[in-house]
Amino acid sequence: MIDIEGIPADLEKGLLPSHVFNDPQIHRLELERLFTRAWCFLGHESEIPANGDYVVRTIGEDPFILVRDEKGVVRVLLDACRHRGTRVCRVEKGNASNFRCPYHGWTYSNSGDLVGAPAINTAYRGLDRSKWGLIPAARVESVHGLVFASLDEAAPPLEDYLGGMKWYLDLIFGLSSGGLEVVGEPNRFVLDANWKIGADNFSGDDYHTVFLHKSMWDVGTITIPPVANMQGYHVHAGPGHSVTFSVAGDPDEPGPTFWGYDPAVVETFDPANVTPEQFELARRSRITVGTVFPNLSFIVAPLTEDSTKPPTGLISLRQWQPRGAGRMEIWNWVLVWKGVSQEIKERAYASSIGTFGPAGLFEQDDTEPWQSITQMSGTQYGRAIGMKLNYQMGHEPSGIGFVKEIKDFPGPGKVYAPRYEEGVQLNFYRRWAAYLNGEA
Ligand code: FES
Ligand code: FE
Repeated sequence: MIDIEGIPADLEKGLLPSHVFNDPQIHRLELERLFTRAWCFLGHESEIPANGDYVVRTIGEDPFILVRDEKGVVRVLLDACRHRGTRVCRVEKGNASNFRCPYHGWTYSNSGDLVGAPAINTAYRGLDRSKWGLIPAARVESVHGLVFASLDEAAPPLEDYLGGMKWYLDLIFGLSSGGLEVVGEPNRFVLDANWKIGADNFSGDDYHTVFLHKSMWDVGTITIPPVANMQGYHVHAGPGHSVTFSVAGDPDEPGPTFWGYDPAVVETFDPANVTPEQFELARRSRITVGTVFPNLSFIVAPLTEDSTKPPTGLISLRQWQPRGAGRMEIWNWVLVWKGVSQEIKERAYASSIGTFGPAGLFEQDDTEPWQSITQMSGTQYGRAIGMKLNYQMGHEPSGIGFVKEIKDFPGPGKVYAPRYEEGVQLNFYRRWAAYLNGEA
């Protein structure tokens, strides 16, 4: 029996029931009430640059075709034939003017219209083709080339949904007028862990970095000293959206600036694209990690693919796709700034794959405890006694930690420093509980 209504009260005490990471009923509610209503990330516009280009993605566990149609309009279409429901798209990416169902041959244009069917005039006299096209997602919008869709016609505009998070996305994804592009293919792998654990971690679990990832410092993958790396801010940026910045304590403290990007990349950043406050925060940033509710995360960091080389700045997008109560598919995109040299792009790609790819050094560290959490979450005894997990770091009523609210921070949201703080995760779970309770 699940007690969704009781969860908001637990969250106010910094507690989370342990069973939420492996519960078939919660998983069902997430598909029914969350993924059908939130704005979910599908892909980056640079993955489908030409008319007819498409990739297959999912919202929750439902397959969708993300396609640029003949007129250049980006569309998100449910990959299900209107005749019997067969999937009409059989490869994960390509270029096509039409999608033809393999079962009986109904054929749809890349804008989703039903354009023909075998023996249509004999078999379907009077069929109104305009009523039998592929079903589009109710809403599609993009920000900085990131395409999102919502299956809820009544969802707020994407910008309203993002709230204060938009300010932070602007300073991360909007610095260069040329914009970003995906390099290589997004890589993905299936893990026996619940999707929320990844979203939770990227909401701002900096606490694990100095312990679990200690070897990253030992081998020189990351050079910011561990204690200094806890300096910075936790931002409850908008409803459910959190972001964490590692920044120098003193604005002029030496160390990576602009996330360690190569000077040739930094030259492409135009202060006119953002406010002076955003530009200054970007300048001071060493590592930035965040989660756009529900399941898109990002990391901007100075990492290296080879400890004999200096760190290079990179952006990775991570997505945590549910695949059952205790399983997820992790997606990883590498973004590079357009117009920089091939060498810089290749270094960013290699650094990202070597750290957050399926065999990446960070990923190998994280995935083991994430599977362990999921296994524990399904245990009978924990459920029977109502075991709760501790998310109290830095906040009352626990009194643990010494976190301070920063009132004069230039960006929106509630902001805390230093980064020994778990309100960023509570911010995620409050929104999650609101969706599951049908309130969001
Ligand atoms: Fe697609 Fe019949 S199921 S044409
Ligand atoms: Fe980690």
